[in-house]
Amino acid sequence: MTISIKQLHPCFVGEVGPVDLRTVHDRETLEALRAGMDRYAVLVFRNQPFSDAEQLDFAQRFDGQLHARTSTSVLVKNRFGNEALSDISNVGADGNLLSPDDRRRMTGLANQLWHADATFVDPPGRYSMLSARVIPPVDADTQFADMRAAYDALDDAMKAAIADLKVHHSIAYSREVLGFEFQPSEKEQLKGAVHPLVRHFPRTGRRGLYLASHASSIIGWRVPEGRLLLRELMEHATQPRFVYSHRWSVGDFVIWDNRATMHRARPFDDTKYRRELRRTTTLDIAPAAA
Ligand code: OGA
Ligand code: MN
Repeated sequence: MTISIKQLHPCFVGEVGPVDLRTVHDRETLEALRAGMDRYAVLVFRNQPFSDAEQLDFAQRFDGQLHARTSTSVLVKNRFGNEALSDISNVGADGNLLSPDDRRRMTGLANQLWHADATFVDPPGRYSMLSARVIPPVDADTQFADMRAAYDALDDAMKAAIADLKVHHSIAYSREVLGFEFQPSEKEQLKGAVHPLVRHFPRTGRRGLYLASHASSIIGWRVPEGRLLLRELMEHATQPRFVYSHRWSVGDFVIWDNRATMHRARPFDDTKYRRELRRTTTLDIAPAAA
């Protein structure tokens, strides 16, 4: 199958022409989509009526092993009993909207901070794939920022200064920024992970800033100075010229590369309107040999 891709933003994001991903099994098409991910970092597909099982199958077919620790599973158990199927919704186990002070809602609000998925564990997430099942009648976009374009726009002195830095990422940090409190026993399980600040993509020869709300400190630096540099880079990388906003319709399926982009949810009245998406994310480990 030949696929066509239309670029949606000057830096990145492609919308893929009509295709039903449930029927895509052949290696050439999957490889063409992977090449699309290399180039655009975010791919948008319309009208993908995935069931949960079909979404889980496609994610593995496309990019290998699934990630099962992309959220605070120590805090809140998954509604579907499968941690590889992330419940990106404002709905509780009883099917009702979460109440304003529900713990799951409070941790979910942190999706409104710029982040990449599961950078607080090792391996982190590589591709995330989000399927829109129920969309509210008000604006509730997801925004993406191109971290390769942001890297390219740094001056040479900054590129040299950050080339070998390593960053500690912790989900406890991104939640504490919002005032969320953890029990000591929970914190023990949320120790975090260390990743390079600059990632290199051998398939394209490009580099990208690897940042997230979870990025808490620079290894070997004093904490305040590390945090200031991280904030500076965050501000730089999320300027409007690097950002694309996705307005959802039911059936949309968006795949993003967490190594090359950040994303965030935009606020809406989530105690009034239902919003339900399902996410599958792959492990950022070497892809299985073709
Ligand atoms: C995610 C996420 C943002 C949104 O699915 O990982 O951060 O807009 N979603 O729901
Ligand atoms: Mn996310």
